[in-house]
Amino acid sequence: MSSENQIVLSSDHAAIELRQAVADHAKTLGWDVLDIGPTTPESTHYPDHGAAAAREVASGNCKLGIVLCGTGQGIMMAANKVKDIRCGVCSDTFSARMIREHNDANMLSIGARVVGEGLALEIVTAFLNAEFEGGRHGTRVDMIKALEA
Ligand code: RB5
Repeated sequence: MSSENQIVLSSDHAAIELRQAVADHAKTLGWDVLDIGPTTPESTHYPDHGAAAAREVASGNCKLGIVLCGTGQGIMMAANKVKDIRCGVCSDTFSARMIREHNDANMLSIGARVVGEGLALEIVTAFLNAEFEGGRHGTRVDMIKALEA
């Protein structure tokens, strides 16, 4: 598997079913999927799963990551604590495209209790099919990176 074609998925207990649907969908879009769980529905802690997925992206093992929890907010906050991660929560396709094109987001977060499966899969498509535009947006992303230095 090439890291350039691989994405990582993770969630907490609130998004197990949607995560499986996202995995299946991403494969149909041509991505290799590293699904790091969890696989059982017991209550769990989203910071662990957000950080674990973020490390797969930050290390270069995966090009992009998608994380899910009830709102998408907690797991996004955890992922963003890992250096070099830019993760946004999206409930619409426009934002999902723009966080790639303008913000060079390398992770997407979705709230399984916020959006239905149909919209969630369209959000995933918008995110995975978009590319960073660079240029003036690169200057601004570099400013975000400088905040981490
Ligand atoms: C779990 O009940 C819930 O708090 C979690 O999935 C998420 O919504 C947190 O941000």
